[in-house]
Amino acid sequence: MEIYLYILMGVVVILITMAYVFLSLGIAIVSGAPWVPTKRALAKRMFELADIKEGDTVLDLGSGDGSLLFVAVEDFGASIGVGFEINPFLVWYTRFRARRAHIKEKIKVTRGNMYRAPLPDVDIVALYLLPKTMDKLRPRFVQYLNPDAKIVSHAFKFAGVVPEKVIDTPKDSLYLYRVRDLA
Ligand SMILES: C[S@@+](CC[C@H](N)C(=O)[O-])C[C@H]1O[C@@H](n2cnc3c(N)ncnc32)[C@H](O)[C@@H]1O
Repeated sequence: MEIYLYILMGVVVILITMAYVFLSLGIAIVSGAPWVPTKRALAKRMFELADIKEGDTVLDLGSGDGSLLFVAVEDFGASIGVGFEINPFLVWYTRFRARRAHIKEKIKVTRGNMYRAPLPDVDIVALYLLPKTMDKLRPRFVQYLNPDAKIVSHAFKFAGVVPEKVIDTPKDSLYLYRVRDLA
């Protein structure tokens, strides 16, 4: 009898966890953007466009599985990659990847809503979000970030702001902005 109770409890825990993850996926789609990771080659082009330097600090809002943060730290020597991500599974997976790569002190991901958290002062913000999401975040960038900080965006633009630089790749365009141009 006891064994059935344990099995039932196990099933309930699994169902609740799955519901939580799927709910977070749904919230992400409604509130920000669905999870689509940036491929490594494109991420490299983004940081080249941003002229990243060794020791720079990088922020990704809606950091997914940490794809952009890992490229910044591992390929360009960023001192820290900070992420905010609403999906708990992706946060867990990013931390797991960071531990496996022995860089857990350089990849700091917080589970949370990017519209609420105070943003850290960083050199570069890397984004792969929808235009409406970027426009919603715009006042927060102006409020929290250094005016000279760079924002590099995969595929999408801020409405009515002329990017400092653009790269057209066969797949997507990449856009570079300065925070001061968003004010
Ligand atoms: C297109 S993916 C980009 C992932 C990653 N930045 C990359 O380029 O590989 C967008 C991410 O934003 C997350 N997201 C959507 N709304 C969010 C919110 N309100 N707060 C935090 N993360 C959010 C999604 O869960 C998803 O992982």
